[in-house]
Amino acid sequence: MNCMGSSNLPGHAKIGALFAFNSTVGKLVQQAIQLAVRDVNTAMDVLNGTKLEMEMFDSGCNPVQGAASAVELVKRSVLAIVGPQSSAVAQFVAHIGSATNVPLVSFGATDPNLSEMQYPFFIRVVPSDRLQMEAVAAFIANYGWKEAVVFHMDDDYGMHGASSLSNSLQARGSKVIDKVALIPGIDKDGIDTQLIRLAERQTRVFVLHTPPDVGRLILQEAYFHDMLESNYAWIVTDLMSNSLTDSELDTNTVKYTQGLIGVRRFVPQTSELGIFMSEWNNSSQSGLLENQINPYALYAYDAVWAIARALDSYLHDRQAVVFQEPIKLPTQSGGEADLSQLKIFQGGNKLRAHILDTKFKGTSGHIKFDNTGDLEGAAFEFVNMVGKSPHAVGYWWTNGVGVSLTPPIDQAFSSSNAAYNDEAFLSSTQANSTKMPIIWPGKVTDAPRGWVLPKNGHRLKIGVPLKAGYTQIVGVSNDTTTNSTSVHGFCISVFQAALNYLPYAVPYDFVLVGDGVTTPTYNDLVSSLAEQKYDAIVGDVSILAERLKIVDFTQPYIESGLVVLVPVKDKKENNPWAFLRPFTSVMWFTVLVSFLFTGTVIWILEHKVNEEFRGPPKAQFITVLTFIFSTLFFSQKEETRSFFGRIVLLIWLFVILIINSSYTASLTSILTVEQLAPSIKGLESLLQTSFPIGYQTGSFVYDYLRNLNVNPLRLKAYNSREDSIKALTDGPSRGGVAAIVEELPYIQLLQSVNCKKFIIAGQEFTKSGWGFAFPRGSDITSDMSQAILHMSETGELERIRTYWFQELACDDSSKDPTVQSNQLDIMSFWGLFLISGVASIICVLIHLLSLYNNYRKHQQAEGSTITVSKRFSEHFKQFIVYADKAKHEEKKVADGKGADISLTPSMTTKV
Ligand code: GLY
Repeated sequence: MNCMGSSNLPGHAKIGALFAFNSTVGKLVQQAIQLAVRDVNTAMDVLNGTKLEMEMFDSGCNPVQGAASAVELVKRSVLAIVGPQSSAVAQFVAHIGSATNVPLVSFGATDPNLSEMQYPFFIRVVPSDRLQMEAVAAFIANYGWKEAVVFHMDDDYGMHGASSLSNSLQARGSKVIDKVALIPGIDKDGIDTQLIRLAERQTRVFVLHTPPDVGRLILQEAYFHDMLESNYAWIVTDLMSNSLTDSELDTNTVKYTQGLIGVRRFVPQTSELGIFMSEWNNSSQSGLLENQINPYALYAYDAVWAIARALDSYLHDRQAVVFQEPIKLPTQSGGEADLSQLKIFQGGNKLRAHILDTKFKGTSGHIKFDNTGDLEGAAFEFVNMVGKSPHAVGYWWTNGVGVSLTPPIDQAFSSSNAAYNDEAFLSSTQANSTKMPIIWPGKVTDAPRGWVLPKNGHRLKIGVPLKAGYTQIVGVSNDTTTNSTSVHGFCISVFQAALNYLPYAVPYDFVLVGDGVTTPTYNDLVSSLAEQKYDAIVGDVSILAERLKIVDFTQPYIESGLVVLVPVKDKKENNPWAFLRPFTSVMWFTVLVSFLFTGTVIWILEHKVNEEFRGPPKAQFITVLTFIFSTLFFSQKEETRSFFGRIVLLIWLFVILIINSSYTASLTSILTVEQLAPSIKGLESLLQTSFPIGYQTGSFVYDYLRNLNVNPLRLKAYNSREDSIKALTDGPSRGGVAAIVEELPYIQLLQSVNCKKFIIAGQEFTKSGWGFAFPRGSDITSDMSQAILHMSETGELERIRTYWFQELACDDSSKDPTVQSNQLDIMSFWGLFLISGVASIICVLIHLLSLYNNYRKHQQAEGSTITVSKRFSEHFKQFIVYADKAKHEEKKVADGKGADISLTPSMTTKV
């Protein structure tokens, strides 16, 4: 409330109402409006001191009568109008509202197009049909139905509703395939014609957006054409579903409505509704339950309150109620048109703004408008007709998550953030399907598939590539006795087996595509399917992104990545340096350095105690070299005598053992397996050469290689396995090819002839599969995919594959000999070298340490004045002199001449 005293408000404020007095809804609306006016006038917080006066005019159901009544109301200086009831009248009358600045607050006009800004003075408390169609589309999407037919009256209202449904379905990946526009007054025959036509189509989902009388006629005729049987889904919008009540259905009509789904505007059970119902029941003879009230009566009640609240704000703003003099509209005859008597409400714009700002909790839920004058947020319920009563089975509301089994709480859809939100609607399409407890036509509980293969429809025309080779995949045989042709092969067997899993029969005929001399181009085959020359393509058709743009594919029934097949090359005679190949150059270098290092270590450890390592430097050098390299064959002549020398030698012999056996194994493998390796190691190395490349005629491989900038002159097409084998065997020098780029299933057949002659170079470089192609949006695709997955899970697919690819005789080891390097590198051996090296170093260090200790003892025994503080170089020089002397003494001991210095026992013992 504002601060202005109520005494300043005018004593009365007049508004009008426009509806069809004689319609079922109109009668309820009249009662609701009277109740609302009474409640407003007794309310203390709205228009206190101002009496709301109501003038009601009959609009009938016809725009002209509606317009005449609206003109009459405006002439009587109403400030706003409740109504009109129907969209047809609203479109006419909304212009009068705009011309005179009189706001119209409708409770029943739901045409989506009335939201347009061309009707600024048109406001409604009833949710637009745009939202109702979202609810219908959500229901259809919930069952995964891809297509629907909508019946509507051939007028603006009907067409706008059907278009709205079409848009909503499209956003969910489904579509309206037929909008059946019914002329007013259409009879039984007219409806029969439409139904007979539709029965021949495959769609089994029908939406009736028609008035109850026309809807009933359609259902009655559908019943006689067996279209209310199982597998059909019939959905009626609230135009008709509000009439599906006990009181309106006689026993005869009931049989046409069994299994029907009705969409209704949902009104939450609130305290406001409870109060309204008790008032209603007190003021009328007919006691109604809350769920029996027609929502339109509630919207009408709320419309009066919306206007009353806005008027209250308007008058408290000290706005005058002034009408401008009519605008002169001269006629051709020189007089003035009737409409020029209409006065213009000067404060109309302000009142309109106040109405748009109105927010309150009404009997139908929260009332709040968006800037187009539409109610924000809406909820709908789905009812299922079983017997004479509609049963609520599910709900949908704005900003919900698709179809729900439980009703929304009242704020959920009508709160301020419940505005229409595309993202929320789209997310609702991703929600899991909700299983509503519905009994469908035919008294079945399993939801209809939504489509069938038409009873009277044509047999499916299935295109099959007539291949000029690889007949295990798709082949043809001619029976001369019966003069008939039959199609067989892996792809055909998979297709026929998959059909057995479909819950319906699929009559079909195979149509061979191609001349049998050259395999047809698969891209053309797919294009002709998109051009509707065929109903499906069954064959070795790869699922490619480009093809998916124009047709649908089932799940792949076999993997078909691309690989490079090359002939095996014998390199034995060609490579005199094959013996070097087991080791990498680093490894060779490391081995050599290790030999020299270990030889040196042995020499250090031995030459003092072992005369075999003595003599002139040249002789010692040769001895060490021959000694260490002989260890390669464990045939060294010299004995090691020192303890540490023996340790080092033992470890070194172990290293040699490992290196030797690894070298032998690697060389053997290189000379046996790897000698088969081709110079082409995969796609990349093939592309770097200029050799000719083979591919299968008609395959996408040609485009693939061209996209990789392969010169077309390098590409050679082959039709059959035999041609490809010959080309590979001949090689480029004899007019053949260096490699074949092909899909795996063909390669398996190619290799099956002589798997030891050809190998796959490198890895599979594309991932794809073969699938059956159907026109875009075809319903059979998902059923076939399901069948293929089932066959894959049960192993049936593999059994069919084994049967047709049984020529594969090669053992597993040679089936897929991909090219790999067998060279050994340092990484496999560094541990070995480390052990040997560290052991050698430790032995040398211990040896030197023990020599040094002896030298120290000798110095002390001689009372030498050499102290540790002496410079190391001096000390070291003396040590060398000592070591030489020790060597000399040692020699003398060996020669039996006695020693001048004492030596450790270990150094004198021969090892
Ligand atoms: N499988 C050959 C192609 O689909 O192009």
